[in-house]
Amino acid sequence: MGSREVMLVVVLACVALTLVESTAVPESVLRLFGVGGDVRGEACGPQVDIETPACQVVESRGKYELRKYMDTEIWAETLVANSSYEGAAFTGFYRCFNFISGKNSKNMKIEMTGPVHISPAPDAKGYKVAFFVPSRFKTVNDLPTPTDPNVHFYQPGGALKAVIGPFGGFPTDKDYEAKFAELKKALDKDSLKYDESTVVYAGYSSPFQFRGRQQEVHVNIVPL
Ligand SMILES: *[C@@H]1O[C@H](CO)[C@@H](O)[C@H](O)[C@H]1NC(C)=O
Repeated sequence: MGSREVMLVVVLACVALTLVESTAVPESVLRLFGVGGDVRGEACGPQVDIETPACQVVESRGKYELRKYMDTEIWAETLVANSSYEGAAFTGFYRCFNFISGKNSKNMKIEMTGPVHISPAPDAKGYKVAFFVPSRFKTVNDLPTPTDPNVHFYQPGGALKAVIGPFGGFPTDKDYEAKFAELKKALDKDSLKYDESTVVYAGYSSPFQFRGRQQEVHVNIVPL
């Protein structure tokens, strides 16, 4: 393992320890572990024991898959500016996790979902981190307001995405960048146009899970 990977594992272990220390392990964390929870997305993308955004596979190609995501998605998102990938992943995860754990205007607990999205935010020299809001919330008005003003709701409005993965391990930003480069090469070869600014690192596995981890890289396809 390189020093960056060691760093990430340490960060994730801290997340795990902090969560385990806090009295009872919340149900949302158990769900993140894959314990309990009967909500499933459609059979599209990695199948995990937490809800994932509904999507349709449009086409499976050699290196990647084209998926259509619905225009009804709501995400709780936070920008962590001036931050390394590891720092932003940690801080951003916590901000979103606190929101679903009850740090909101109704002290409402919201179930954990997957994947966690991390996106480079080059203008802010940091990263955005986002949690998918369970589909039982149909509009933003159905949701409590996050206590942390750094967390807001984001509605991507549906997209056709090219997806590479899933791949395992605990990827660093360099690993994700390499996967994205691989995806771009395949899309260029197929003359598909994409919007680089929409790249997402999608993590389906909890920080506690060490085996059978699943991650993907997504990018929006732009109509020709
Ligand atoms: C990020 O750093 C820049 C310059 O170093 C600073 O102007 C800006 O306020 C910082 N942003 C945040 C959110 O800390």
